[in-house]
Amino acid sequence: MADAFIELVDVEKVFEVRRKTGFLRRERRSVRAVDSLSFTVARGEMVGYIGPNGAGKSTTIKMLTGILTPSGGRLRVAGIDPSRERTRLAHRMGVVFGQRTTLWWDLPLIDSYRLMHRMYRIPDARYRENLDRLVELLGLADLLDVPVRQLSLGQRMRGDIAAALLHDPEVLYLDEPTIGLDVMSKARVREFLRQLNAERATTVLLTTHDLQDIEQLCSRVMVIDRGRLVYDGALAGLHEVGESERTLVVDLERELPPIEAPAPARVVRVEGPRQWLAFPASESAAGLVARIAAEYPLVDLSVREPDIEAVIARMLDTPADTPDSPPDPAGRTVR
Ligand SMILES: Nc1ncnc2c1ncn2[C@@H]1O[C@H](COP(=O)(O)OP(=O)(O)OP(=O)(O)O)[C@@H](O)[C@H]1O
Ligand SMILES: [Mg+2]
Repeated sequence: MADAFIELVDVEKVFEVRRKTGFLRRERRSVRAVDSLSFTVARGEMVGYIGPNGAGKSTTIKMLTGILTPSGGRLRVAGIDPSRERTRLAHRMGVVFGQRTTLWWDLPLIDSYRLMHRMYRIPDARYRENLDRLVELLGLADLLDVPVRQLSLGQRMRGDIAAALLHDPEVLYLDEPTIGLDVMSKARVREFLRQLNAERATTVLLTTHDLQDIEQLCSRVMVIDRGRLVYDGALAGLHEVGESERTLVVDLERELPPIEAPAPARVVRVEGPRQWLAFPASESAAGLVARIAAEYPLVDLSVREPDIEAVIARMLDTPADTPDSPPDPAGRTVR
């Protein structure tokens, strides 16, 4: 791809780990955290990067930022090999690890920003302009003089996001930026990211376990499982891959035997006068509703959308890579 801003070709990361297996006995094993991973992200895209625990998401982000060196394959960000030219790239990227802070724990928030101003050699005018804008957009005004360790999780996260953006990076990596945040704080962070991407065309790679983050922010999602990319496309497409179903909930006038619905629609639950019917998410509910209304004493109804989390779970336990690959080639351990 011509304007691929992030480019991975067959990237691998194998960790050598030593495990204690007995008194004075240790066993060396390798863990293949990322396995022939290839994808590209164009400048200005906002992409969700999801998958179960241990799938290799954080490892990917660490390679993209140059913290870790790939064991194989080719990786470029803005044409730069991150592990070789980490410092050069640092000026062009920002990263937020939700699980830990890049801020100085004992210092007031503003002091961390002042340190970054110098570390990144941000021109004074630009620093002040960016700081003002970020403080305003992230609601940090009252927090600047508070030591970081006294901030709540949501406040600290906003502080961290501002820190990652003070130097106007072209790309922002977010590794679970909404973890542990309350509903309001999540909404605030999402709104901020939406604006950042829309107004500044900042490229964003977002890792999260909260699929609402993805639903609200990303038109493209990549799913990784056991170090491999298993889906790359529109979020809506996941429903098809996962063969997901919607649920029609109908209230009848009285308790009746299960409705005889046209296949593949079928009753999955009956509780008194209320019945639940599953039907393919790709089909319209109208035909089904009309049919039931014509034949049954219908009082009320509602349609429930498929739970994207369930869709992904279903997708991942369909044996995608069984026939040609042995179950545990690299002796993977912790999953
Ligand atoms: N430094 C390391 N040494 C050894 N193994 C590691 C190291 N870092 C990660 N791993 C292993 O690599 C695999 C992928 O880990 P990674 O942290 O990338 O997963 P993740 O997708 O970010 O998971 P989570 O959703 O739990 O954050 C796991 O099996 C993990 O145990
Ligand atoms: Mg992780």
